[in-house]
Amino acid sequence: MKKLKVIVDVCMVILLIVLMCVSQTGNFIHELAGILTIILFVIHQILNKKFYRNLQKGRFNKIRIAYVMINSSLLIFMIIMISSSFMISQEHLSFVGLRNDFLGRTLHIISAYLMFMLCGIHLGLHYNSVIKVKKENRIVINIFLIIFACIFGVRGFMKREIITKLQLQLMYPLHFEENMLISLIDYIGIFIMFVMIGYGVYQLLMLKNRKER
Ligand code: HEM
Ligand code: HEM
Repeated sequence: MKKLKVIVDVCMVILLIVLMCVSQTGNFIHELAGILTIILFVIHQILNKKFYRNLQKGRFNKIRIAYVMINSSLLIFMIIMISSSFMISQEHLSFVGLRNDFLGRTLHIISAYLMFMLCGIHLGLHYNSVIKVKKENRIVINIFLIIFACIFGVRGFMKREIITKLQLQLMYPLHFEENMLISLIDYIGIFIMFVMIGYGVYQLLMLKNRKER
């Protein structure tokens, strides 16, 4: 079970980063990868169903509130992402006949970019259960990830004009001329940046929890 969870998690991260490079992959691959990712998201919910079952049990400390807030936002954006995909599909889902280009594009852009960032924060909140290494090695890994995020994440976030996209001032994919490798590095950097933000928030909340006890 644990092995299956890890395989699903790794595949989701890889696919999510490839999906963000739609200008390089083209529509056919993007839609195929998108459908596969949505299926993996659903499998991920089933594998973590304990979380939903236990929602009404136990105390709600700050960390648990953060988990609930991020997970419910992710769930909402996942539903919006699925609906919007039917509206803008030009290949594999177009047969359903739900085409609505303007609404679909608007919802797709908002849910895609917010989901990408929130998945990073969500993974960061679980960082300790994902990276199980000795304390010294963890420090080395953290320093490497923070440097990578600062160099490629911050630069990529600016270059991709993600804030302008979320304000719906840019409704089409950009950087078609760019090499796939450069796009991948940018999005890996942005993803790691949000993982480290999530990890930082987790550490802060743990510190507060300990002080309050
Ligand atoms: C790249 C995408 C994602 C990655 C890498 C990821 C990773 C993880 C990890 C590592 C865990 C902890 C599992 C454990 O400790 O056994 C987890 C739990 C969970 N994930 Fe995700 N996840 C992703 C996307 C999503 C999405 C899109 C949703 C919601 C629609 C979601 C909802 C949940 C829930 C409900 C849990 C259990 C509750 C919790 O501990 O927060 N995840 N995820
Ligand atoms: C989690 C899954 C998905 C993510 C993260 C994602 C992400 C993205 C992103 C970032 C864009 C570029 C938006 C922009 O900057 O203007 C895009 C465009 C698009 N996506 Fe997705 N997508 C996903 C799933 C899907 C699915 C399942 C379909 C259809 C079956 C789909 C169809 C499209 C189409 C048609 C475009 C527009 C391409 C163009 O204008 O040339 N996507 N998507």
